[in-house]
Amino acid sequence: MIKQYLLSPGPTMVPERVLLRMAHPMIHHRTPQFSALFAETKQMLEQVFQTDNDALMLTCSGTGAMEASITNLCSPGDTIIVVNGGKFGERWSKIAPTHGVGVVEITVEWGQPVAIADVQAALAANPEVKGVFVQASETSTTTEHPIRQIAALTAEMPSCVTVVDAITALGVIDMPMDDWGLDVVISGSQKAFMLPPGLAMIACSEKYWRLSASASCKGFYFDLATERKSQRKGKDTTAWTPAASLITGLNEVLKMMLEEGMEQVYARHLLLAEATRAGVSALGMKLISSAPSVSATGAFVPDGVDGKALFAFLRDTMGVTFAGGQGHLQGRVLRIAHLGYYDLFDVIIALSAIEMALDRFGAPVTLGAGVAAAQAVLVNRFPRV
Ligand SMILES: Cc1ncc(COP(=O)(O)O)c(C=O)c1O
Repeated sequence: MIKQYLLSPGPTMVPERVLLRMAHPMIHHRTPQFSALFAETKQMLEQVFQTDNDALMLTCSGTGAMEASITNLCSPGDTIIVVNGGKFGERWSKIAPTHGVGVVEITVEWGQPVAIADVQAALAANPEVKGVFVQASETSTTTEHPIRQIAALTAEMPSCVTVVDAITALGVIDMPMDDWGLDVVISGSQKAFMLPPGLAMIACSEKYWRLSASASCKGFYFDLATERKSQRKGKDTTAWTPAASLITGLNEVLKMMLEEGMEQVYARHLLLAEATRAGVSALGMKLISSAPSVSATGAFVPDGVDGKALFAFLRDTMGVTFAGGQGHLQGRVLRIAHLGYYDLFDVIIALSAIEMALDRFGAPVTLGAGVAAAQAVLVNRFPRV
């Protein structure tokens, strides 16, 4: 037997409590039972989004909600600003033209956060743009962008919004949507929400809804106004057949998160990130990012080690699945997740596996060095007795 550990930045591990809840018999989505479950779930979800707006649930992966955020804002011929510092930033630039929407791209070196001055300059040069589209956490480079400062810029512009892909940030870092003036926040089920893939969540500000009224790219399935009408109090269901078992699972996940307390959820994620960064640094692996994400740590594999082969060895021979590199980072980095159903000893497993794999690949590594560095960070979580 090789015991399997899923330590990738999505999909992430699903807690037993959630698996058991999702194993309950299916309920019909046009019933008072489902509506009660849906209303409770939506209300808890809005607490996690930290918003008085509607947090809508869409049956799709995160990319579906990214597309909806463009099509519900824009008409053909409109232009948006995209922060492209990795694979997911690039995705905005791929979606928009399929709807006749133009893109002004701010190209950011992979591993760097976007410079606010560059966003300011792009807005000044293109005052007609409908929005700035950015990742809170760019998973391909494990980098956080300064979303709060970007939102402060568009707040001054009556017809321009900030749209945040928080697919690996919501439920990981404290990012109060309303307080920070984020106009759109998007997330997905298979990340910090500890669920299988298939459900996306999106909340939009009043300003976004106002601009959305005249957008003509909407399409049919992802018409957010139609969804909002169905999902609001009174109807409490989705416009189309939902991923009901995922919504049932989300109900349980949100209870877990709120029982732990969101402050503690954020503190736990930060501690795990700090321990992982300390661990990989002790192994001589350089971080990809100068603004490292709290959801996953990306680091370069030592010189002379084939990162692709290392990743496959960890997964297939040792049973530990991380993420490798995307784009030009393929074969050069490992990305170690620490989001969702993830606790202290998962960090130890991750680092221990990496050390042993590096040893087998002939890299000059001292077994236990990464683990010890992480332990020195993690041990403070426990009281002295
Ligand atoms: C930051 C970010 N944006 C977008 C996506 C795409 O989401 P999905 O694969 O659920 O469509 C991902 C997935 O890893 C992501 O990490």
